[in-house]
Amino acid sequence: MIQTVKWENSCICILDQRRLPTEKKWLVCRTLQDVITAIREMAIRGAPAIGVAAAMGLALGAQSIKTEKYGTFRRRFMQMAQQMKSARPTAANLKWAIGRMITAVERMDNNTVEEIKEVVRRESQIMLERDIETNLKISHNGLELIPDRATILTHCNAGALATCGYGTALGVIRAAHEAGKDIRVIVDETRPLLQGMRLTAFELIEDDIPVTVIVDSAAGYLMRKKVIDLIITGADRIASNGDVANKIGSYQVAVIAKENKIPFYVASPLSTFDLDLKNGDLVPIEEREPGEVISLAGHLLGPKGVNAFNPAFDVTPARYISAIITERGVLKSPYTRSIRNLFKTKDDRGQSR
Ligand code: MRU
Repeated sequence: MIQTVKWENSCICILDQRRLPTEKKWLVCRTLQDVITAIREMAIRGAPAIGVAAAMGLALGAQSIKTEKYGTFRRRFMQMAQQMKSARPTAANLKWAIGRMITAVERMDNNTVEEIKEVVRRESQIMLERDIETNLKISHNGLELIPDRATILTHCNAGALATCGYGTALGVIRAAHEAGKDIRVIVDETRPLLQGMRLTAFELIEDDIPVTVIVDSAAGYLMRKKVIDLIITGADRIASNGDVANKIGSYQVAVIAKENKIPFYVASPLSTFDLDLKNGDLVPIEEREPGEVISLAGHLLGPKGVNAFNPAFDVTPARYISAIITERGVLKSPYTRSIRNLFKTKDDRGQSR
């Protein structure tokens, strides 16, 4: 199974996804700042992977706090959490993971700082392992939605590389293939950073699952031609009414899917839900460097000085989503109700306790 992030002694190693698929290089992070930079510059990306990397980064930062006093340690840790929060704004998993680490620290106000450092490191490793278990459950739950001999469209990368292993949307596809279903995958290249072509196609080829890459704007044409049986994507944040923020371009795929009566499924762990948000309009949308739009692989292709706009995510309203596949089952519309029933309490978020 592809690994994206791991502890190695007192460092965190991150598989540098900016170099994939041509080079497989581990980036060694020795400080909290190294991890924040790796997330911001997308050496690691994908909502669940960002969450776990953030937790590990905070555990790494905690090791560097030089005090024996709980109050001082807590204050410093909270500053680090604040810094980490700014790494990337859209993925709910970042907020979720940071919240979990803060809770771990706050529960240990009677412990020594040495004990707390040990526990937060262990907690981050547990989060990594639980993420894989969660993905396997999501993938199993999604199987019922995948018919035999299906051609599936996916957007961006919601595979092993976007998580700690196996993947969410790509996990469902992988599980269908492993179950013997005859699956073909069409992958949107996913401009500007080409996560579909570079990462999703790479994962599918490694697993011997037939894959064809298209430019993003070809998806509508193929839907109208009835080539695509269903669509499945991941999510970066899901509001309490079921609106889904995901990679830019997801919204137009979902709208065209509905027009052509093709099911549009979202696969996501509970840690991606943000029950504080009433709807998707409240999701903070990351805007990245315009240079990512006018350049490709570091080569400037547009005219020098041209304006470019680069929103990294968009929101698909719940009415376009046929089902949301989670580790606790498949949610159907009306989502406000099915999501409320899924979370027993406001804190009951994620990783299959
Ligand atoms: O900008 P990225 O590459 O972090 O965006 C990733 C996505 O949009 C994924 O679809 C999403 O995080 C789900 S990953 C299981």
